[in-house]
Amino acid sequence: MPVITSIDDLHRLYARRAPKMFYDYTESGSWTEQTFRDNISDFSEIRLRQKVAVDMSGRSTATTMAGREVSMPVALAPVGLTGMQHADGEIKAARAAEKFGVPFTLSTMSICSIEDVAEHTDTPFWFQLYVMKDEDFLRDILRRAKDAGCDTLVLTLDLQILGQRHKDLKNGLSAPPKLTIPTMLDLATKWRWGLGMLGTKRRKFGNIVGHAKGVSDTSSLMSWTAEQFDPQLDWKKVERIMDMWDGKVILKGVLDPEDAKMAAKTGAAAIIVSNHGGRQLDGALSSIRMLQPILDAVGDDVEVHMDGGIRSGQDVLKAVAMGARGTYIGRAFVYGLGAMGEAGVTRALEVIHKELDTSMALCGERQIADMGRDNLLIPHDFTGRWA
Ligand code: GLV
Repeated sequence: MPVITSIDDLHRLYARRAPKMFYDYTESGSWTEQTFRDNISDFSEIRLRQKVAVDMSGRSTATTMAGREVSMPVALAPVGLTGMQHADGEIKAARAAEKFGVPFTLSTMSICSIEDVAEHTDTPFWFQLYVMKDEDFLRDILRRAKDAGCDTLVLTLDLQILGQRHKDLKNGLSAPPKLTIPTMLDLATKWRWGLGMLGTKRRKFGNIVGHAKGVSDTSSLMSWTAEQFDPQLDWKKVERIMDMWDGKVILKGVLDPEDAKMAAKTGAAAIIVSNHGGRQLDGALSSIRMLQPILDAVGDDVEVHMDGGIRSGQDVLKAVAMGARGTYIGRAFVYGLGAMGEAGVTRALEVIHKELDTSMALCGERQIADMGRDNLLIPHDFTGRWA
């Protein structure tokens, strides 16, 4: 077993162990993938200020995200098809998150159902909703999430139609995979994955199959989104869904200061600055670049979180020092899951935590809440170049 010291190590192992179709699903952005790449590379433009001769004992990365106590400002982002990356993937990731003391967010488009995850965990997880046209289904899925003990709804605003990811179309992405000759040749080399999948019954979209009516192909993310997602979603409907949920809501997918002001007015517990991991509007600016203008726009009106491009504890530290209360990892935990199951997700969290804690100390801070803009060196034109 290789020594895992970074998220990159997990990524390499994941690439060897996961079927190509699901690896490609994770590792895609839309169209040219410019935003997907920028999410990562823009972090490296920000530098950290080194401080010495400061007592660094008694450090803590603990804080809160949307009122939840967390051991570090990192939650697991909702990721579709996670149970195709590794058998029972959502259950395994949720358990790893629970043990680490960070929130797990279950995607509407998960393989393990809301009930499956609730049955295998004790801490309430967060449920991510895609707004669908079928109001009965919508009410039903919200009720199921409430009954399962979910205490926070993460409402996604940036995916009512799907940005095109070329590889998914070419691979014929589906859950479970259709057994074409190229897929079978690939699966023949992914025996670990195959053994896991033979050992579980969870191989379909668990929140949908058996619950939604009038779906032409329940195995296809592409046809499901095209047929079912509500393209008429607007701020009025957002507020109506928030009323339906009648609990804590986080609004995910805000990338513009004007939208952020609208989102803050809804009374949401937090907003997530996000471009959906570069998977929706290619050409949009990276999340870390849009973070400051959004923080300036909303002030103290709403808690601000961010996702997109986080592959290390230093990325978390930079986002938090800039002013984000919390961050989310998607690909970084999926690499761990596909590489090593639950232990891999735990490893991803450990790697990020260690780097976050050590870097915080070398910046001269002992509490994550004390990190601020003073700890950063940000290029003068970091946000202004495209104004
Ligand atoms: C959403 O489910 C996505 O594939 O980005």
